[in-house]
Amino acid sequence: MTILKKSLAVLLALSSWGIAVPVFSAEPLKVGMVLPMSGPFAGYGKQIEHGVRLYLALNGDTFSGRKVQLIIKDDTGVAPELSKRAAQELVVKDKVDILAGFGLTPSAFASAPIATEAKIPMIVMNAATSSVTTKSDYILRVSHTLPQVSAPIATWAAKNGIKTVFTLVADYGPGHDAETQFKKTFTAAGGQIVGEIRTPVKNPDFAPFLQKIKDARPEAVFLFVPPGEQTVAFMKGFVERDMAKAGIRIIGTGDLTDEDVLDAVGDGALGIINAMHYGEALKTPENKLFVQAYHKAYPKDRPNFMAVSGYDGMQLIAKTLQKTAGDASGDQFMAAAKGLSWISPRGTMRIDPLTRDVVQTIYIRKVEKIAGKLQNVEFDQVPNFRDPGKP
Ligand code: PHB
Repeated sequence: MTILKKSLAVLLALSSWGIAVPVFSAEPLKVGMVLPMSGPFAGYGKQIEHGVRLYLALNGDTFSGRKVQLIIKDDTGVAPELSKRAAQELVVKDKVDILAGFGLTPSAFASAPIATEAKIPMIVMNAATSSVTTKSDYILRVSHTLPQVSAPIATWAAKNGIKTVFTLVADYGPGHDAETQFKKTFTAAGGQIVGEIRTPVKNPDFAPFLQKIKDARPEAVFLFVPPGEQTVAFMKGFVERDMAKAGIRIIGTGDLTDEDVLDAVGDGALGIINAMHYGEALKTPENKLFVQAYHKAYPKDRPNFMAVSGYDGMQLIAKTLQKTAGDASGDQFMAAAKGLSWISPRGTMRIDPLTRDVVQTIYIRKVEKIAGKLQNVEFDQVPNFRDPGKP
């Protein structure tokens, strides 16, 4: 037998025993990313790309024999028609194996039918409306859902003497989810909602809303707006109106105190209690290494939950291809990815085989100054927490 025939015989024998063998080793692995790289949410694209590239730099850019090739398309933020077109071009023209990215919910909703039609895995790295994963059987999410981070902060508030809360959320999927879950958990624990406001997704003017909240005199305001200019504007208005001195606290999900904008939000953020699955200051050994490597690679930035999602999205792809011996075709990939578990900088994470969302620890944190830097410092946690937004 020639060497080639011998190797073939060995491969056939291995695969007939159910052992995965690398049959796609020659083909590059094309990952097409749809991300906001410009406009008010450009920070999302930057952070996700940083996380993705950091994974490749630290772990090698060849997964199960296939060299990873990234193709990034800018969808500019909340522009579903641009996101859909970008996903379509990536599939049809660039012939990508996997779609990834998706900074905001409208982008994920618009692109889901493309993944379904092409039977291509779609790795959602931020969009956090609970129902995103129900829009295509080919979606896997490596970030969080708004109900998943809103329920723990509602429980914390009720247990810690806060009786009245005013909710303010952006008027779209993740805001609605945050509002619904917060109200549900907080009122079930005996709390009272004394007012609720939904703000426009694009260019909201917070001044009249802040005045309304001040007049209602709640003990706390619960907030979800997409991080960036909006969190900075909200906090500026809150500080200008002396609302903390009027006895109003801010509580929220960790989207509010995201490290990419925390410095711009400023000292007004000190003391905010929030719930999230990841923060730069998180004390896990894996995070220590991740943060060190991030600062070395991107000295001007701070890693946030979007960066860790980019990193874990690549980790999910690498681990899944180990199981399929490099086969990224939709049905094989999805079957292998469901139920996968690994150690992330955020702690242990697992892909729920039923919902294709992450089961993970949610940390309760307080914004403090550590070595002159505003940080989310965890003091409590809810382990192995699934998305409560799904039945
Ligand atoms: C979303 O649009 O789904 C979204 C955006 C920013 C976040 C979370 C969710 O921090």
